[in-house]
Amino acid sequence: MRTCRGILLLAALLLCVGVAACGREEDDQTESEEQAPGIRIGMSFDSFVIERWQRDRDVFVSVAKELGAEVNVQNANGDIEEQKKQIDYFIRKGMDVIVIICIDSDALQESVEKAKDAGIRIVAYDRLIRNADVDLYISFDNEMVGTMMAQALVDEGIGGENGGGNVLMLGGSPTDSNVSMVEDAFVRVMEDNGVTILDSAHAQGWKAELAAAYIYSHEALLEKTDAIMCGNDDLATQVVRALSENRMAGDIPVVGQDADLAACQRIVEGTQIMTVYKPVEKLATRAAEASVALARGESLQGEDVTVLENGNYEIPYIGLEPVSVNRDNIDDVIIGSGFHLKEDVYLNVPEKMPQTDE
Ligand code: BGC
Repeated sequence: MRTCRGILLLAALLLCVGVAACGREEDDQTESEEQAPGIRIGMSFDSFVIERWQRDRDVFVSVAKELGAEVNVQNANGDIEEQKKQIDYFIRKGMDVIVIICIDSDALQESVEKAKDAGIRIVAYDRLIRNADVDLYISFDNEMVGTMMAQALVDEGIGGENGGGNVLMLGGSPTDSNVSMVEDAFVRVMEDNGVTILDSAHAQGWKAELAAAYIYSHEALLEKTDAIMCGNDDLATQVVRALSENRMAGDIPVVGQDADLAACQRIVEGTQIMTVYKPVEKLATRAAEASVALARGESLQGEDVTVLENGNYEIPYIGLEPVSVNRDNIDDVIIGSGFHLKEDVYLNVPEKMPQTDE
């Protein structure tokens, strides 16, 4: 219980910091801004539409602040030209480090080069900027994400000893390097288990309504679909909504990633069989520590730092482990860690709520 209260307090604290960070996100990009002393980090997000990114931002900003750094957060709203402008702005402001959640993994090579020429360190956060000499790429192991999604389907009796099975893949943005990493690993496991990929479609810019549109326009295909792999839980939300309009929610197993609250609710309700929990607190904390170290000119230390070949460059890589979440371990992994509250996860099915840890 005490741990639980501690987690709640921490969550409240992060929320306050988050509000402050939100304010900063609105900072206009004028040249007249006061130069803050100490370490300065610029952070450019793809967008905050997906639930997890607000948590990434709040934890990163709060940890960086504790370590003596100021973070200027910008939101590119899914617009790659805007993201480039934000990086230019950070270069003009002479930031020590720029942390980028890139919209397009193949579009920022020049921006990175410009920043590096200006002596600024670059961190590719969660998404790799391909063929660029970044000072750190930090993410969850995306291959593991895809493998876990596929294994959940095999565990559900699709493919494997039973053979056969038809799976539909509704993936995320094709410009996000994570997407192909997740999908390649997913397909490998499916193939090893004799499963056919019926179709593979992608939601440009991670726009979830595109996943729903796919379901509406492929009703005949759904008849022979044994499971749907969704690129993330936000896509799964729209897919399950569209399935429920056809009275099919719960009949076709759905998997996703991020452990969004809505996905966790669906897992206890029975309309999604699994999600991948990515402890973003760990990612954001480690990224903030590493960014401050880079700003101080230190080399990245730690057993978790490996080397990754990124086109023509060898770059430091930190890969964190995700966790597969289903009906059996959701109470331990999601509620036990404080990622979501029990009351929230079981909001629509209070009768199923575990009573044990009160
Ligand atoms: C992240 C996912 C996220 C998606 C959409 C991906 O790069 O790995 O966690 O759901 O982007 O924002």
